Amino acid sequence: MHRVTLVAAAAAAAGVVAAAPARSAVQCPWMNLAATPAQRAAQLLAAMTTSDKLALFTGVDPHAALGVADGPLYVGYVPGNPALCIPALTLNDGPAGVADLQIGTTSFPAPIAQAATWDPALQRTLGRTLGLEAWNKGIDVLLGPDVNIARVPENGRNFEAFGEDPYLSGQTAAAEIQGIQENPVIATVKHFAVNSQETNRYYVSSNVDDRTLHEIYLPPFETAVRQGGVGAVMCAYGLVNGTFDCQNPALLTTVLRGQFGFRGLVMSDWGATWSTVQSANAGLDLEMPGGRFFGSALADAVSAGAVSMQTVDGMALDILTSMFRLGLFDHPPPALESVSSTDVSTAADQQVALRAAEEGTVLLRNEGGVLPLRPAPGSTIALIGAPAGFGDLRAYTSGGGSAFVASATPVAPLGAITARAARAGATVVSADGSDPAAAAALARTASVAVVFAYDQEHEGVDRTTLALPNGQDQLIEQVAAANPHTIVVLDTGGPVLMPWLDQVDGVVEAWYPGERDGDAIAAVLFGDVDPSGKLPQTFPVSDASVPAASTNQWPGSDAAQDASFSEALDVGYRWYDANHVAPLFPFGFGLSYTRFSYSRLRIARDRSRYSVSFTLRNTGSLPGADVPQLYVDDPRAAGEPPKQLEGYERVFLRPGRSTRVTFVLDGRSFAYWDTPTATWRIEPGLYRILVGASSRDIRLRGFVRR
Ligand code: BGC
Repeated sequence: MHRVTLVAAAAAAAGVVAAAPARSAVQCPWMNLAATPAQRAAQLLAAMTTSDKLALFTGVDPHAALGVADGPLYVGYVPGNPALCIPALTLNDGPAGVADLQIGTTSFPAPIAQAATWDPALQRTLGRTLGLEAWNKGIDVLLGPDVNIARVPENGRNFEAFGEDPYLSGQTAAAEIQGIQENPVIATVKHFAVNSQETNRYYVSSNVDDRTLHEIYLPPFETAVRQGGVGAVMCAYGLVNGTFDCQNPALLTTVLRGQFGFRGLVMSDWGATWSTVQSANAGLDLEMPGGRFFGSALADAVSAGAVSMQTVDGMALDILTSMFRLGLFDHPPPALESVSSTDVSTAADQQVALRAAEEGTVLLRNEGGVLPLRPAPGSTIALIGAPAGFGDLRAYTSGGGSAFVASATPVAPLGAITARAARAGATVVSADGSDPAAAAALARTASVAVVFAYDQEHEGVDRTTLALPNGQDQLIEQVAAANPHTIVVLDTGGPVLMPWLDQVDGVVEAWYPGERDGDAIAAVLFGDVDPSGKLPQTFPVSDASVPAASTNQWPGSDAAQDASFSEALDVGYRWYDANHVAPLFPFGFGLSYTRFSYSRLRIARDRSRYSVSFTLRNTGSLPGADVPQLYVDDPRAAGEPPKQLEGYERVFLRPGRSTRVTFVLDGRSFAYWDTPTATWRIEPGLYRILVGASSRDIRLRGFVRR
């Protein structure tokens, strides 16, 4: 009730009046708020005919259903049933903001930047903000977050998810889901499971061993279910071990419902349903966008007895229970036509986008303290944009594909930096970089040169190389040769190669920062905020120096459409550590304008849990935030990678201040998945506890004996 009151208040503040439930509790007894969601769903189910139930299982074309020719719309639509007080399901993307089938919504930083904040509290706020914008736009099912593990950095959707570590991805997702679902909106964790490349995405089989599946690819979904309480799961394109995900009983029933205890709705990704009987019996509830396999074909299968009434009832309960639990029956969103032209992006929402962009920005290199910029009055800063696309000193608001969010009010780096420099008495000159010689000549006249470089990730296509596109390496090299104080700002959706690294003084990874791009990068460059983002993903030194370097691994053999996950558990930093390969920048890395010391590690046992605490002190001269990280190194006999993230905390400290930071480890922090018994087990032995500022900067060590 408290949740709902908050939502109503927020909706009123946003100028939107909540629609009243369609019918009274007299006509629809399940509209009685005193009963539990499960009771209400069971009561409604008893009043439904078979065709009422079947109508829940398939989306319809929203254009036709709503009579909308063009203009703002939903990407998916399941009509309501007014006679039974069932509201419509109105679905839209996605992970970086309410996507561009709608207008007037906030473009938040890309999820990879959200993960780089390592800040669950902020992520929850972002989720709450995103969920309310969705509801205000008439949407009751939001298609995010995406928790697919960044197995290959070339993945075209790298920007859309939370990086390479299952623990960080799970925590980031759970916080966002809790925030989204503080509104009467169902969050959808996707794409279940192992949807880690775009090449051949509809047909590729991810061939992965059971232990790796449970330890690397499934845990973020488990955390989304158990900790986040997510209402919906989207099964993925492609196959796992030879079976399409959306008709895979091992994934949808054994793991998701059995092991994780999920009691909610499973929908297919758009066009990821491939069968009627097999899918329904495997645990798929809703075919999207719908009509092909679960419409009349499912009705026929039910009549023929190939899909039982018990299965049909289970599917209906999955959907209805999530809808009741998350408030969809009691607080349906406003109708599309009443809000399609409304701008729901408030100043407060944009402030959340700004904070996430600032906190997610990662300072990778800062030679000679070139940053923060402290220009002398009268000096000149040269801003150079990449020759084309988003990197040309306009705001980089979003990656491409279904997650794309249009922004009406983007803040460009050029304008924001020019204004901020003026406050310091400095002048900005700029060039678009299309003529590297001219850009270098301009850089030569300035006291410092800032080059904006970019990549353009897009759903549906993987990158073929991690090199920056369109001659940007040459541009950076020429500018760096002309100005010894060159800083590169990267607007990339993931790792890129930096052949010019030693020639530049500064590198800042800003990702796709969303609509407040310019404000965020100006604040970081000038030191108005301390850069405190940490990499959620390893940056490699070359295309070849990555965990999945063979064609069999990625993109897989084309003829067989098989991708071999032969690197097994060695994903991301686990592989670099296990194989003693030096990354360009390690997982968890990020510099600050201040310094932190780590001391006085203490490990205490409380029954089955361990608390690991230490003192963190800001020993520099500026206020700033650090993200201490806890890794566990298992005894060799467990067969685990050398270290794995099991805790982290973002801590802000003023200069000279210190605090005790405490991490709690439970059984799972030490466990491995034992395939023969299908259980989590702990190998007896000595576990090393590693606390540090990145996966390669361990400051404190201790032990736990299990
Ligand atoms: C994407 C999903 C998205 C859906 C609806 C699919 O192509 O894979 O992530 O939610 O489209 O736009």
